[in-house]
Amino acid sequence: MDLATALKRLEKLEQEMAELYRWLADLFADDRETAAFFKQMESQEASHAELVRFEKRLVRSDASSFAGLEFDPSGIDEIEGWIRAFRDDEESPSLGRALVFAMRVESHAAEHLHRTIFAGANSDLHALIGNLSRSDWKHFEALREFAAAHADSLGDRRAY
Ligand SMILES: [Fe+2]
Ligand SMILES: [Fe+2]
Repeated sequence: MDLATALKRLEKLEQEMAELYRWLADLFADDRETAAFFKQMESQEASHAELVRFEKRLVRSDASSFAGLEFDPSGIDEIEGWIRAFRDDEESPSLGRALVFAMRVESHAAEHLHRTIFAGANSDLHALIGNLSRSDWKHFEALREFAAAHADSLGDRRAY
């Protein structure tokens, strides 16, 4: 996969993450604190998509220096598959299940994308992926803290 395609896929993934959190915010609309938490996650994912768009503009002007690089989309494929399956299987997940699922996605995105998609690319791209990975770790931590703060109402404590 070439760089332009890889960035397009990455932008789409961030949008899908935003969409996942928008869906969760809507599902938990009756619970103001939870809905606000997911809304905030949604807007941060939207800003990640904006970061990727910015990078797309940068590399477009310098396409030749990326020629011949191959990018590995397997991490993106995997996460998109998980999100699809979760939304198909779980029409209305409990808050506990939603948080566990989001943590799984964020930690996988943080670890796997960083190591695979732009391995072998230049420092510009590493900086972008480093930023996105750090944001995903922050999301993972935010989800974990939210789960811990609401453990009493989540029921199944083993999940955390
Ligand atoms: Fe993100
Ligand atoms: Fe994230």
